[in-house]
Amino acid sequence: MTKVYKDFRGRVLATGVEDLSFTIREGETLALLGPNGSGKTTVIKLLAGLLVPSAGRITIGGSDVARQRKKALEKVGVMLGDARSVYWNLTALDNLEYFAALRGIYGKRARDRIKRLAGLLDFEDVLTRRAGELSRGMRQRVLLAIALLPEPRLLILDEPTFGLDVASRHEIRRLLREVATEKGCAVILATHQMEEAQDLAYHVCILRHGKVVTVDTMEGLLGKMERLKHREVQSSPWLEGVFLELTSTVDGPSESCRGNVSTGRQEVLHDSCSYPPC
Ligand SMILES: Nc1ncnc2c1ncn2[C@@H]1O[C@H](COP(=O)(O)OP(=O)(O)OP(=O)(O)O)[C@@H](O)[C@H]1O
Ligand SMILES: [Mg+2]
Repeated sequence: MTKVYKDFRGRVLATGVEDLSFTIREGETLALLGPNGSGKTTVIKLLAGLLVPSAGRITIGGSDVARQRKKALEKVGVMLGDARSVYWNLTALDNLEYFAALRGIYGKRARDRIKRLAGLLDFEDVLTRRAGELSRGMRQRVLLAIALLPEPRLLILDEPTFGLDVASRHEIRRLLREVATEKGCAVILATHQMEEAQDLAYHVCILRHGKVVTVDTMEGLLGKMERLKHREVQSSPWLEGVFLELTSTVDGPSESCRGNVSTGRQEVLHDSCSYPPC
């Protein structure tokens, strides 16, 4: 994403996103964090081509999402945490077959892939039940399976473990780690769960009122915020303390989080730091 803006013109209380830039490569995971209404879902929808940016450029695998939509999104799996993303009157299996067909996956190939994903995500027992009858956790699994159908190179997830029990959360995290490390898939996930971000992500992007507060590696962020320890901020996971510090201050983040981002392993763009202006 390069200098991406999205403004919901004329809509009251619509923050959108402002001047957002970041880069993510295969095998890497980026956590999008921010309070309610900070713009995480908007970023996810922009990346998935579901919203058109008001300005700026989004490319996936070198293809522009706006101009070469089909090519850019061919190997992108998207999971919106929204229950409306599946057809409630269709069974889980029908939903999966339908979304597989939309991706050009039919017949035996589709059946094999669905069977494998249902096994992997442990929802084989509910395949023939209507999506509307499923528990939220089960529906989340179906949604994740739909996102994994195209064997994505980029997986974009909006609160993937929302509503899941503890064991299922761990299971999904294990799966996401596997998808990133073994299959070399890039993962972008929006989450409110700091331990999830800490556990999975190499990069973190914190949003507040649609603006980037910081983009950094987990390691870099931890280093910069070391001073929190001296101020006796007690929090577990540590990212929670950092998050609260960065998102609750009225005057902006502390000195330790300003400036350019140096990630060590790769360059993460933050040339557009707009909060605070720098
Ligand atoms: N279609 C839309 N029309 C108008 N405003 C919108 C629209 N979609 C989002 N917004 C506004 O954009 C801002 C960011 O919303 P977004 O859903 O991206 O936040 P979020 O960080 O995902 O929040 P949450 O943690 O609650 O999911 C909010 O002010 C929201 O009201
Ligand atoms: Mg959201």
